[in-house]
Amino acid sequence: MYRLVYMSTPKRPLSREDLDAMLAAATRNNNRNGITGILIQDHKRFLQYLEGNEDRVEETFARISLDKRHHAIFRLKSGVIVRRQFPGWSMASKTVDQSGSLTNVVRELVKACDRDVAEELLNFAAARDRAT
Ligand SMILES: Cc1cc2nc3c(=O)[nH]c(=O)nc-3n(C[C@H](O)[C@H](O)[C@H](O)COP(=O)(O)O)c2cc1C
Repeated sequence: MYRLVYMSTPKRPLSREDLDAMLAAATRNNNRNGITGILIQDHKRFLQYLEGNEDRVEETFARISLDKRHHAIFRLKSGVIVRRQFPGWSMASKTVDQSGSLTNVVRELVKACDRDVAEELLNFAAARDRAT
């Protein structure tokens, strides 16, 4: 199992409709490619975690990287993990409200994850929270 975590910046705030359309395409493609994961957005950034077959994940990330809806795409981590962490989610999505913290949202999402993966995601979220 292979996972990739990145952060990016939306070019402009995505409307609910834009986000839903994007998630519909993501879910369809990810189902086909055996990819699962989470996508979280706060008021200024996306944090996405993708897992699956290495080639499929890298191919998906390459496609996502070309998407004009965001930029400043920064790979935080990629590599092998022991097993799939989000088996039920072709792409779980959460929005952090203005006053909320990314860390709190991530903490909820990683409850069933292995400790190393959970801590990694929490650390990225905490770094992001400190930067805002
Ligand atoms: C923040 C962000 C996250 C995305 N996540 C995924 C994803 O997990 N899987 C995916 O296939 N496409 C994702 N996309 C959309 C892709 O960039 C691309 O638009 C889509 O895969 C094209 O699919 P289509 O050819 O079926 O329309 C994401 C886009 C953005 C901006």
